[in-house]
Amino acid sequence: MTAKISSFEDYQREYAHSVTDPEGFWAEQAKRFQWQKPWRRVLKWNFRTPDVKWFVGGRLNITENCLDRHLESRGNQTALIWEPNDPGRRARKITYKQLYGLVCQFANALKAQGVKKGDRVCIYMPMTPELAIATLACARIGAVHSVVFAGFSAVSLADRIKDAQAKVVITSDYNARGPKNIPVKKVVDEALALGCDSIEHVIVHQNTGDAIKMEPGRDIWWHDAVKGRRKSGKATVVNSEDMLFILYTSGSTGKPKGVVHTHGGYMVYTEYSFRNVFQYEDGDIYWCTADIGWITGHSYIVYGPLLAGATSMMFEGVPTYPNAGRFWDIIQRHKVNIFYTAPTAIRALMAAGDAWVKNRRMPSLRVLGTVGEPINEEAWHWYNERVGKKHCPIVDTWWQTETGGIMISPLAGITPLKPCYATLPLPGIQPCLVDANGHEINGNDVEGMLCIKYPWPAIIRTTYGDHERCRQTYFATFKNKYFTGDGARRDADGMYRIIGRVDDVINVSGHRIGTAEVEDAINKTPHVVESAVVGFPHEIKGQGIYAYVITSAPISDAAAFKQTVLDTVVREIGPIAKPDKIQLVPGLPKTRSGKIMRRILRKIAEGDTGNLGDISTLLNPEVVDIIKTGAKSI
Ligand code: PRX
Repeated sequence: MTAKISSFEDYQREYAHSVTDPEGFWAEQAKRFQWQKPWRRVLKWNFRTPDVKWFVGGRLNITENCLDRHLESRGNQTALIWEPNDPGRRARKITYKQLYGLVCQFANALKAQGVKKGDRVCIYMPMTPELAIATLACARIGAVHSVVFAGFSAVSLADRIKDAQAKVVITSDYNARGPKNIPVKKVVDEALALGCDSIEHVIVHQNTGDAIKMEPGRDIWWHDAVKGRRKSGKATVVNSEDMLFILYTSGSTGKPKGVVHTHGGYMVYTEYSFRNVFQYEDGDIYWCTADIGWITGHSYIVYGPLLAGATSMMFEGVPTYPNAGRFWDIIQRHKVNIFYTAPTAIRALMAAGDAWVKNRRMPSLRVLGTVGEPINEEAWHWYNERVGKKHCPIVDTWWQTETGGIMISPLAGITPLKPCYATLPLPGIQPCLVDANGHEINGNDVEGMLCIKYPWPAIIRTTYGDHERCRQTYFATFKNKYFTGDGARRDADGMYRIIGRVDDVINVSGHRIGTAEVEDAINKTPHVVESAVVGFPHEIKGQGIYAYVITSAPISDAAAFKQTVLDTVVREIGPIAKPDKIQLVPGLPKTRSGKIMRRILRKIAEGDTGNLGDISTLLNPEVVDIIKTGAKSI
């Protein structure tokens, strides 16, 4: 492990350098890696169209930098530790040398299945080492991976397969999650029955070994696919700007969009941010509890840590199985030094009672991290006191699928902390706050919409198959700025606190959910005429989902009907999008132009019905009182 920022002065110096000479700064960082051909130009960009290219002309393969580059210096060091769902089973440790062999072997198997550079491969797997191996194997042959979180429904999976026109799906028989054994392969079969014509093969990893149906000619077992394949081989050399992966994420309108990241910039940025934010030291055991199905898992279980030569742990299970002490057991047993999780998990464990963590000594812990949603003050202090025993800095890392890596965060042990503040931008990141008219808000002690003024290496390149959507969503709201969709506050010391989304996206347990998507799903329930979905504060999840639903005729059995709504949402999206509250209403408050007044619905969902503002201009102001009254019994 080489140089890191080691003091606050160092950070300030590096930050200043990154702003005055961004290209020089990033070129210096990029030199740490193995390039098959050096870049001609560090950066070419405009935020108008948008068009951002880093390390132009450079040729490389990110997996060569994750694996081959470490073989000599740390071949026998553990690269991945896998902690299974069942606490009675032994953890699996995979060294860099072994991981190299497994990735090469599966890459060779993919090639034999006809997968070529540029082909899209969908990965729908539980948190087993094979998920990481499959991901890296795609990258190794220049194929584009699209990992879909294994909790999504068949309909969602099919949508993503079709959008990416994937050629192959890689999956597992079952997903062992807590006490459940979820039939993953069956979901793939259902998805493929929805007309995913681009799919030629399904590769199935045998995880639990329980029975599944295999379709002859189409489906092949992982263990058969790798039989006789070599555990070595050169990585396919690609251009710096060639696509590395697509990851679907929700926005305020329409279906989820495929965020595209590329080899060169993503590599440089995830490694740089990993090393500096967590202050990883050689020999540390680092554990991020995310799922590889989300960006956090991509950047900070797989790529960032492996690029940095770290030991990264992945966990198959859930925080509360077999009991709420599971995380602390794992930390003790594996002597975890750096622990990175989501506020929702912290709140759930906090609610389970102090007894699980109180008398635990976890002397190995040095750094704690959070990601995915704003952390509330109570949870921050609990994490600090009960888990970190007041001697572990908490890095509250703000970033997004589109940013590829951590953008605003303390550097552990270096940046002064302030509870609930993501604090300061990483070197290379130029945030600003903007008012509703698009004017930058200068000075401190201010609030506004969070934008980024200058490209960084891991910035979103496009939304797959629809570049205009990328422009519209992120670059059209404010001229010459990337718009994050978040509101933020900058305090008197210039530190940032993320307030939350300012668009129609809700953040449920750290998962991003578009209200429009949930509404579309609810509207597929028989007898539903229209619906409106808003977020409301939820003690554990951060935000819960509140759905207002209009039906075509009065419903006699409301409970049964609501269950049908829930089933429909689970079928269309997955359990993560299930509304927490459903209210049947005769109408929705609308403006004269027919727009739903979500502001009013949000206030009612929050239980704040005192001052709803001026409702006299509504098309149907009378409906507001009816909804208010109805909400009391929800
Ligand atoms: O609203 C912000 C919130 O999560 C959104 C990004 O979601 P996603 O693309 O799924 O990526 C999550 C993991 C990086 C952001 O727009 N968010 C993320 N981190 C934080 C946060 N909100 C507050 N504090 C954070 N640390």
